[in-house]
Amino acid sequence: MDPASGAEPKPYATDRYTKEDDGLAQDWYGHVWLNPPYGRDFNEDFAEKTLEESRRDEVKSITALVPGSVETNWFQENYGKADALTFIDGRVKFVGEKDMSPSFPSVIATYGLENLNGDYFDALDELGLVYPRTESFLRRMLDAGRSPAAALDTYFTEFRGHTFAEWARVRDVSTPAVYQNVKEITTKGDKAAKGGQ
Ligand SMILES: C[S@@+](CC[C@H](N)C(=O)[O-])C[C@H]1O[C@@H](n2cnc3c(N)ncnc32)[C@H](O)[C@@H]1O
Repeated sequence: MDPASGAEPKPYATDRYTKEDDGLAQDWYGHVWLNPPYGRDFNEDFAEKTLEESRRDEVKSITALVPGSVETNWFQENYGKADALTFIDGRVKFVGEKDMSPSFPSVIATYGLENLNGDYFDALDELGLVYPRTESFLRRMLDAGRSPAAALDTYFTEFRGHTFAEWARVRDVSTPAVYQNVKEITTKGDKAAKGGQ
């Protein structure tokens, strides 16, 4: 679904909210594509709404194409908590407006990586540099009921190109020690999410 729709020549999503519906006042659900309206009046509200919605069970994933204003509070506090950030290579182009691009860089903030598949990662890779937040990714996988081994396997497969088991075997790493690290990292992530005590 697309909670900020209207400007595109043809809707991308089957379900959408326009300015008239006010996507900020609605519940989002499923796999969400967000390209919020540009401008100071909107940045903070959409950033806060995105983080809030990303924590609701009805929301499987959010892919948010947002201004790369990484120095701002609204970015750091909200999009900075995504599971992965993709720093887009070059400038995006506005559909239907020949050669028009924004004057600022763009970032894709992805929430809910555990609900997305390899094709999604391949697509991100083609757009720019993908930086996963390891602790956030692993915590979500554990919350979704996966074992540390399964969570690590997915993480390694997607971001390092081989399974965790292969990596541990080649490097002669103790897997229980790494599982313990995962538990500690994800617990710290929980604390950070609750206000960084
Ligand atoms: C950058 S465009 C994105 C259009 C399209 N979703 C896309 O990805 O190409 C932002 C859209 O959000 C709409 N919009 C503005 N305020 C909104 C609001 N409060 N709720 C929902 N949509 C809004 C604008 O009309 C515009 O169509």
